[in-house]
Amino acid sequence: MSVNSDFEKRILCIGAGYVGGPTMAVIAQRCPQYKVTVVDINPDRINRWNSDIPPIYEPGLWEVVAEARGRNLFFSADVEAGIREAEIIFVSVNTPTKTYGAGKGMAADLQYWEKTARQIRDCAESPKIIVEKSTLPVKTAQAMKRILTAGELADRFEVLSNPEFLAEGTAISDLTDPDRVLIGSDETPAGRQARQTLVDIYANWVPAEKILTTNIWSSELSKLVANAFLAQRISSINAISALCEKTDADVAEVARAVGMDNRLGPKFLNASVGFGGSCFQKDILNLVYLCQYYGLHEVADYWKGVVDINNYQKDRFVTTMLTAMFNTLAGKKICLLGFAFKADTGDTRESPGIVVARRLVEERAELVITDPQALENAQKDLADIADQIRFEPNPYAAMEGCDAAALLTEWQEYAALDFERVLSGMTRPAFLFDGRNILDHQRLWKMGFNVFSIGRPALTHFDPARS
Ligand code: NAD
Ligand code: UGA
Repeated sequence: MSVNSDFEKRILCIGAGYVGGPTMAVIAQRCPQYKVTVVDINPDRINRWNSDIPPIYEPGLWEVVAEARGRNLFFSADVEAGIREAEIIFVSVNTPTKTYGAGKGMAADLQYWEKTARQIRDCAESPKIIVEKSTLPVKTAQAMKRILTAGELADRFEVLSNPEFLAEGTAISDLTDPDRVLIGSDETPAGRQARQTLVDIYANWVPAEKILTTNIWSSELSKLVANAFLAQRISSINAISALCEKTDADVAEVARAVGMDNRLGPKFLNASVGFGGSCFQKDILNLVYLCQYYGLHEVADYWKGVVDINNYQKDRFVTTMLTAMFNTLAGKKICLLGFAFKADTGDTRESPGIVVARRLVEERAELVITDPQALENAQKDLADIADQIRFEPNPYAAMEGCDAAALLTEWQEYAALDFERVLSGMTRPAFLFDGRNILDHQRLWKMGFNVFSIGRPALTHFDPARS
């Protein structure tokens, strides 16, 4: 009997990234009866998954991988062999914003997606259930089915939509205890059967009432809408933070008062330097493009506003720095405390840090960047100006001799820094810009810092009314 036939099902995931890796690791951990293989065209990524050095930083991930790897979880660069063997194929390749042609800067670039569809069609020797895990525009499943059915096995592919809702930094708890699992399928006998196969996988650890089934289009659209709603809350509170700064209101107090309304809830109301991450902007622009495509221009403009406010917020942060530091940053030494788009990840995709760093270098500031997990990615993001930036893992060394520090990522270790020690090494007047509102501003101001936060009055030693 072969090793493969010892397993109840063979699952393949194409794309070993931030979604494919953790998602499959959890399926393998929770379902030892299935063989789970993750493949990628990037052999370096696969080598990292097979090594002792994870390709991504995600709390708790490595313990899950260690439990299942080699038992029923495998990482491989042989995509075609993986396709031939599996009965269920999750597709979790990247779907970035298009950078060329029609829909440039807005629509999803589906080239990786389509290549995968064609590859599945060309290699498959038996029926398969194809699961869209990537975030895709509405009706992509239909396009995929058209590509798949242009081959010999025409009626033997079922396409399901099963969008992923995990957030980086909390991926493992999001996967092991999800708010919901969403599965969209065709309402045909074959579609319903495929859906049940996928429901059966999740039922190994997710309670039945949390597994939602819908039609394919609702499922695809729900993913875009969930991200749009989450990002909209951040842009809403960030827009209000600008008003707070003008009116001496405190955005944290406003958020608390608003969030205590049960109908609104307290989450996702932290004003910040702006949201980042590979998906919010991409998915909203994708939604905007879809609305435009269907002639819904007012709806498109409404959602576009969420991205516009986010860009405004990043821009406002740099303007505050420039204005506070007497309208010139040239030759001033500034430290960016944190570069990841949020805490507990090394991911820097669309991080506000990228915009802030570039703007500060344009102003001819001397930049130092520190981050506990993201310095490797920061160096890649800023490769063209990296010779003008110092990358320093130690936050104390990074702030030594600086005129200002700007906190961009809410790493808890930054809230715990010894700021007396930091201040003693900084040039005076010393400025702190808290882009996440995690520091004790009153205490820092009393210590001697000039403190600027988001949506709160500035605390400076220049204004007699406040000193
Ligand atoms: P990623 O870039 O980290 O990973 C995608 C992987 O797919 C890469 O390693 C790439 O080499 C591989 N790939 C591309 N084309 C391939 C092909 N033809 N064959 C084999 N491998 C191929 O991206 P990600 O962050 O994992 O996101 C994947 C999808 O999941 C996106 O659609 C994204 O919107 C969605 N999503 C992401 C998150 C997140 O937190 N990152 C959360 C939910 C949903
Ligand atoms: C987000 C969603 O939360 C996930 O549900 C979704 O699956 C994922 O996008 C995706 O589709 O990629 P993620 O981007 O990993 O997850 O992280 P979030 O916690 O949503 O944070 C996104 C950005 O918003 C970060 O820059 C974060 O710092 C910022 N944010 C978040 C705020 O500025 N304020 C808040 O109150 C919350």
